[in-house]
Amino acid sequence: MRPGEGRCHAGADHAGPDTVRALAEEFVTLYHRENPGTGSPGRRLAEVAAEISRTGTYTHTAQELLFGAKVAWRNSIRCIGRLYWQSLIVRDRRHVDSADRIAQETVRHLQQATNGGRIRPCLTVFAPDLPRRPAPRIWNDQLIRYAGYTRPDGSVLGDPVSAGITSAARNLGWPGGPGTPFDVLPLIVHGRDDKPRWFELPDSAVLQVPLEHPEYAWFARLGLRWYAVPAVASMRLDIGGVRYPLAPFNGWYMGTEIGARNLADTDRYNLLPVVARRLGLDTSRDRSLWKDRALVELNLAVLHSFEQAGVTISDHHTESRRFLAHLAREERAGRAVGADWSWIVPPISGAATPVFHRYYDTEQRHPAFVYQPKAPADTACTASPQPPRPDPPAGTGCPGDALPHDAPCTQD
Ligand code: ARG
Repeated sequence: MRPGEGRCHAGADHAGPDTVRALAEEFVTLYHRENPGTGSPGRRLAEVAAEISRTGTYTHTAQELLFGAKVAWRNSIRCIGRLYWQSLIVRDRRHVDSADRIAQETVRHLQQATNGGRIRPCLTVFAPDLPRRPAPRIWNDQLIRYAGYTRPDGSVLGDPVSAGITSAARNLGWPGGPGTPFDVLPLIVHGRDDKPRWFELPDSAVLQVPLEHPEYAWFARLGLRWYAVPAVASMRLDIGGVRYPLAPFNGWYMGTEIGARNLADTDRYNLLPVVARRLGLDTSRDRSLWKDRALVELNLAVLHSFEQAGVTISDHHTESRRFLAHLAREERAGRAVGADWSWIVPPISGAATPVFHRYYDTEQRHPAFVYQPKAPADTACTASPQPPRPDPPAGTGCPGDALPHDAPCTQD
């Protein structure tokens, strides 16, 4: 292989057999303890140990995979939405490792998860890492994301969090979308034994909600929108020593993720000044609390619009109560629940929710979703004969033109 020809697979490392054996033993024991019908783990442990000695890894049964994925959700210390962990739909696609089929299965995942607006938590498991045989990857950090086109002056049209993946897509030959602040990005799929390729998502897989406010007619004219299904594609699913670098999963949104972060953060859509001015607030003084008041109206608009559109969404008060119900239920089942306070407490009205007023066990248990080296969207791997276009596609006079595109933005 010549320099520059590396496949740039980020998930290439595979744990040694001793580590795999120890993790497998812990997981198989847990599986049998929590699934009483499955008898004692002795036989399965011996089988797994033999397979690891032979091949360096082992294959989960469909039941182990289902259980492992659900427990990885249950163990996600940053997730407030874990009450329904047992209802996760797991799509076992471990035999799928080519870019075409991954893209196809991803579209199906989104359609099944979207379910016409009644969102269902789903996870699709693709081929795992094998010794000397890295798994496929999707480079996008979520299956649905809005593009962020970097302009020559460094400002970004769209979502600045996507600036890197947007230029990676362009480098691979994606012509760009229509040029609105809400252009849906293509998927970038790196199949096994292939080069990374981009795939446009069909409209049928991307439900979106135009945002309006229950009282202010001007709000709809801002032309804001958000997608219905948050589906994280960048985290690795680790179950008992087997690593699944490509296991995209989704839940439904809690309104604050959109209204208090994605649309509000200064390094995202940075809309508080826009909303505050439309509300006629005094933005020259912090103590007019214009940011706080704009946040409330923006969050109200998000919840209202999703509800009107018949798309599942929860508010932070409800989701906080559910989380405490989850803690209580898990404790009754004799299980400790890890939680990271700084992620669990909602980004607005924290102390008005019950999750604020206590401490949590912070231990990360296994199986788990873990961060993995970013897929190489910004590395030499994306270098291709096609140069990126110097400018974002021209604006279309579409709704998003009302947005402050020129806000300086940090890139991810
Ligand atoms: N916070 C991320 C976003 O706003 C999504 C993370 C997963 N969220 C969820 N509700 N499952 O896009």
